[in-house]
Amino acid sequence: MTATTPTTDLAVQATGVGKVFPTKAGDVAALTEVELEVKAGEFVSLIGPSGCGKSTLLRLIADLDQASSGELTIFGKPARRARIDQDYGIAFQQAGLLPWRTVAANIGLPLELHKVGKAERDARVAELAELVGLTDFVDRYPDQLSGGMQQRVAIARSLAARPKLLLMDEPFGALDEMTREYLQGELTRIAAETGAAVVFVTHSIPEAVFLSDRVVVMSPRPGRITDVIETGLGEVRDEALRESPAYFEKVTAVREALHGTKVERANER
Ligand SMILES: Nc1ncnc2c1ncn2[C@@H]1O[C@H](COP(=O)(O)OP(=O)(O)O)[C@@H](O)[C@H]1O
Ligand SMILES: [Mg+2]
Repeated sequence: MTATTPTTDLAVQATGVGKVFPTKAGDVAALTEVELEVKAGEFVSLIGPSGCGKSTLLRLIADLDQASSGELTIFGKPARRARIDQDYGIAFQQAGLLPWRTVAANIGLPLELHKVGKAERDARVAELAELVGLTDFVDRYPDQLSGGMQQRVAIARSLAARPKLLLMDEPFGALDEMTREYLQGELTRIAAETGAAVVFVTHSIPEAVFLSDRVVVMSPRPGRITDVIETGLGEVRDEALRESPAYFEKVTAVREALHGTKVERANER
C-alpha cells in the first residue's frame, strides 16, 4: 500500500487560513490569514512563541481540526481526502506507542489497520526499522527503549504508508540535547531518502535552522506568519554545519525575525 500519487507539486497550500476557537470567555483567534506553500520534498519548520498557533496549523493540515476560513489543500486535495489516502504521516512530542506491542508491531500498526497482508507488512517493517536504525530492537517493547529510540519508532510508524508528507509537532521536544541533535541529523537523512516533504513544528531556533529549507516565523494573537527565511544551507546537514558561519548567520536571522530585534536596534542607534 502506498499513498496516492501527488496531483500537484505542492505538498501543502494554505490560502487565507484562519481558525477561531469559541470559548466561554469569547472567541479565541488562533490563526489569521495564513498563506503557506510547501513544495514536494521541501523541509519547512514553523517556529514561534508558545500559543502562536503552530500546533493548530499542523492540526488543520492533518485534518484533526477544521479551518474557520480560507482554503487548505494537501497535494491539491482537501485535507480530509488526503487523510483517507494516507498522503501524510504524523509524529508528535509524545511517541504515543502502544506499550503492549513490540517495536515491530507498533511500526506496522498503520499497515495492519489498512489490511496490508502479513508478508508485505513484515517486509515493510524490516525496511523501516533499518531506516531508523532499530533493526536489533524490533522485538523489544516500548518501555525497554530510551526516549530517543521511542521517538524513532514513532517516526518509522509515521512513514509506514510511504507518505510524501510528514507532519511533526515538536517530536524531539522531550529529549535531551545530545539525542535531539542526533535525531535531527537522522531526520534530515530520512527525509532525503524518502523524498517526503516535512512540516516541522518547533520552538528551537537552532533546530529549525539545522533541519529546514525554509523557516516560517509566526507571531501570537492572532497567530500569523510574519517572516519566511530561506536557509540556503544545501543538502548536507552534518555536525560541521552546526559550527559554520552560514548556519550562525541564519540562526541570527531567525532570532531577529522572532524577536523583532532588528527594528529595536535600529531605533537605538
Ligand atoms: N481547542 C481549543 N480551544 C480553545 N482555544 C484553543 C484550542 N486549541 C488551541 N487554542 C488556543 O489557540 C492558540 C494557539 O494554540 P496552539 O496552536 O496550541 O499554539 P502553539 O502550538 O503555537 O503553542 C492558543 O491561544 C491556545 O490557547
Ligand atoms: Mg504546540
